[in-house]
Amino acid sequence: MQETTPATVKVGELEFPPRKVWMKTYGCQMNYHDSERIMSHLSGMNFTKTEEQNDADLVIFNTCAVRDLANQKFYSHLGETQKLKGIPKRHVPGVVVPAPAKKVIVAAGGCIAQTEGKELLSKYKQLDFAFGTDVIDNIGEMVYRAYAGETKFAVTSWDRSENYSIETKITQGTPQAFVNIIKGCDKFCSYCIVPFTRGREKSRRLAEVVKDVRRLVEYSGIQEVMLLGQNVNSFGKDNSESLGQLIMELDQINGLNLLRYTTSHPYDVTDELVEAHRVAKKLANNLHLPVQSGSNTVLQRMLREYTVDHYLSLLEKMRKANPNIVITSDIIAGFPNETEEEHKDTLKLLDLAQFDNIYAYAYSSRKGTKSARMSDVLTDDIRGRRLREVMDKQLTIQAAIRNGMIGKTYRVLVEEKGLSKGVTKWTGRTSCMRLVHFEPQTPESDYQWHWVDVEITSATALSTQGKLIRDLGKNLQ
Ligand code: SAH
Ligand code: SF4
Ligand code: F3S
Repeated sequence: MQETTPATVKVGELEFPPRKVWMKTYGCQMNYHDSERIMSHLSGMNFTKTEEQNDADLVIFNTCAVRDLANQKFYSHLGETQKLKGIPKRHVPGVVVPAPAKKVIVAAGGCIAQTEGKELLSKYKQLDFAFGTDVIDNIGEMVYRAYAGETKFAVTSWDRSENYSIETKITQGTPQAFVNIIKGCDKFCSYCIVPFTRGREKSRRLAEVVKDVRRLVEYSGIQEVMLLGQNVNSFGKDNSESLGQLIMELDQINGLNLLRYTTSHPYDVTDELVEAHRVAKKLANNLHLPVQSGSNTVLQRMLREYTVDHYLSLLEKMRKANPNIVITSDIIAGFPNETEEEHKDTLKLLDLAQFDNIYAYAYSSRKGTKSARMSDVLTDDIRGRRLREVMDKQLTIQAAIRNGMIGKTYRVLVEEKGLSKGVTKWTGRTSCMRLVHFEPQTPESDYQWHWVDVEITSATALSTQGKLIRDLGKNLQ
């Protein structure tokens, strides 16, 4: 049999043989999408993905700084990579650690690297380079420098150009795509690190996004698009364009079946956007609208720029515009000096808002933010208890709402197959973003990326089961 040597790729002055990259991503969809972009650049340099860190030539962490827990997880994972480089845990005189079998390069990017890149490089011997959130498209050059022998460099500059112009890169091979439409955040909520890690707001032009999405639908088989931004409904402000307009234009694209966007800020929900929810046929029956607290005084201290009443009036307008809309939210429990009464106001808000799901977090102090400078009487115990109360309350509300799904039929895009207590089940998401599990008609039935209609047979706060009514195949039209 003839042996084939895998081809090398020449980049600049260097030969790149086939290599493996292991990548771990923390944080939000923006970060996951950045990782996808990184992967698309690296595949041009002969890298393929591996799930085994020990097999990797290049190890990349794409980090998140939003809460201390995210930082701690990353520090501990990065700490473990010293063994890949043959660096002993501590130096013992006379003990020689064998050199590793191959050269491994370790890099850290994303939100922690943006603000702490240099510190990370000096603290962690094994780290070769660090890169921030605004230089994702330069990853090829950084990897080149690392293979050329450079080490200990940080690239954390901001893109100063006036325009934000990119073409979406997809690598997952699925009919779902993330599309960045705005980057950065100018809101500076008092608790939040994101404006520091992601920089100032900058939007792509509407026409560019429409062209990009049309290309994804026509040439890459994309059927569902998630428009991304930290503050996505600020889109277009500097260009006299808006998210509402963008949605209406994307709604016209033949072959696109589902359009989502995340994350929005209540301050920037306009009547035009509400109208888009009434009119646009492809816009999902789902809106993630973080409220953070149910107390006006806490909202003021958070610098959120809206009141509870205003927030509730937005929900009312959205529900009137689209009676099928399902609303989800984020809550922070135990903001500095939150009183018991302010906390109870959040529990009351949960009753009034009737969210379908929430992401609730205990407040975490982030260095450099305004709230980190407030003196604070709350303890971790109080925060923990309030977080549990928020979650318990929500679970009760959620169970009741989801019980109302029973007997109704939902269209679902099937994402994966799994085993639950020995039974094969397929799982997908409704337009309103709820996960639904159902059993196949025969063990061999393959529903991967099919659109199916499923009648809900049982629902709890966290899980929804259904029976298959109709398999519509991979394309709706
Ligand atoms: N841009 C989005 C979300 C950004 S971060 C928005 O404005 O809503 C995602 C969520 O993390 C936030 O909605 C908030 O609930 C939570 N979060 C942000 N900073 C936090 C902090 N310091 N402590 C606890 N939770 C925080
Ligand atoms: Fe953070 Fe507020 Fe910006 Fe959201 S809007 S990213 S919470 S500063
Ligand atoms: Fe985390 Fe950065 Fe996203 S801090 S939540 S990865 S923008």
